[in-house]
Amino acid sequence: MTQSPSSSINRRQFLAGTVAALALSPAPSRGETAPPSLVARPGMAQLTPKEYPETAIWGFDGQAPGPLLRARQGDRLQRRLMNQLPVPTSVHWHGIRIDNAMDGVAGLTQEPVAPGGSFDYAFDLPDAGTYWYHAHTMSLEQVARGLYGALIVEEPEAPDIDREEALVLDDWRLDRETAQITDDFGAWHDLSHAGRIGNLVSTNGAFDLTLAARRNERLRLRLINAANARILALSLVGLEGWVMALDGMPLDHPETAQGELILAPGQRMDLIVDVTADVGETAHLAHLANDGQWWSQVAWSVTGAASSTRRPVPAALPPNPRQAVPGVAQARSVTLTMEGGAMGRLQAATYEGQRLSFRDLAERGHFWAFNGIVGLTDTPLLEADLGETIRIRIANDTAFPHAMHLHGMHFREVLADATLGPLRDTLLVQRGESRDIAFVADNPGDWLFHCHMLAHAASGMRTWVKVRRS
Ligand code: C2O
Ligand code: CU
Repeated sequence: MTQSPSSSINRRQFLAGTVAALALSPAPSRGETAPPSLVARPGMAQLTPKEYPETAIWGFDGQAPGPLLRARQGDRLQRRLMNQLPVPTSVHWHGIRIDNAMDGVAGLTQEPVAPGGSFDYAFDLPDAGTYWYHAHTMSLEQVARGLYGALIVEEPEAPDIDREEALVLDDWRLDRETAQITDDFGAWHDLSHAGRIGNLVSTNGAFDLTLAARRNERLRLRLINAANARILALSLVGLEGWVMALDGMPLDHPETAQGELILAPGQRMDLIVDVTADVGETAHLAHLANDGQWWSQVAWSVTGAASSTRRPVPAALPPNPRQAVPGVAQARSVTLTMEGGAMGRLQAATYEGQRLSFRDLAERGHFWAFNGIVGLTDTPLLEADLGETIRIRIANDTAFPHAMHLHGMHFREVLADATLGPLRDTLLVQRGESRDIAFVADNPGDWLFHCHMLAHAASGMRTWVKVRRS
């Protein structure tokens, strides 16, 4: 049993002090045509309490999270990625229904950018909402080192709120003495079990993000799970509100944000909340930790009243284009069976054209398969005609949950009663579960479809979907 959040909100005793501020986008302007830069480089961050040293990270513009990128729906985003890392990299714009050539997947949509090299990303933003960007070359290591940031696309008309906060959550695996990132990327236990779970959960790069608020203030919280593998269970204390959007896409009807809010790696959730804590109290976004206790993840000190009464229930956010998924009943259906991992039943699978026993696969650091195939091959999971509706049954025949992410297009879950769930880009599939998704293959190109537990993706859980150009 877990305790209810309100009964045990603590700040870790030894944690005191730092508040990280969101950085603004770098100023453009350097020559007439050069797009603004986004520099992947090493940096230092005070992730831990001040008595610990700073942590060496890799980040966009040297920070983790990288700069908060903000644009308006319909805008074109341009950034020149400059690689000042010692390794190749690339940037994926997670959740953007993007031009395939800009999707950032090394080995599928572009060559990785060598150290010292650059790549110009330029793409349209068809949808408003909360998105994020992250490295997509050796992601298991690069995202764990801090190469990610928030990408916010504003609605043409802002909802009626007082303020908003983009909250990028991550967990870090730090050495307890030195506070440095442990470089055990690809440790077999992580690959074969739940992935690389860290020992410090940060928000916007701070372990104890503390913000100010006033009673009855209305906030929009944009939650982003940038963790390698941690499934976040969150709850609100002294804040009451509604889930407005999932994975960037507005819900038709906002839902009351109650109980545990589950955010799997890669997923986002937009909330509109009212500050209901009294003046002098502290409101929290609480997080259920491994110890079964709720801890404060973000705290808001309530220092005054914005008004004496609460506002009415907010209207739904304006819909994005192409939200409908028609023709599901007649759609072509493909099954994706996930197998492997510790305590799984995988006997053998095909890796680089060779049929190998689970033991031989494990010796090569590969533990997972989709439909008996480990990792990417030249053959996609499916090839869709442009505009075709596709249904995929995701069968999780493993002992672990997996967060399945489709690039380039959002999908809806086909629920047991044949109704459709919310439009999302990442779906958490629990062990033993079988879940169906459907989407309109309206974005041409080669799209990765993988588990967002990055250790799982690195050790086999990747495939791709081809959408024909005409
Ligand atoms: Cu968020 Cu393939 O990635
Ligand atoms: Cu997985």
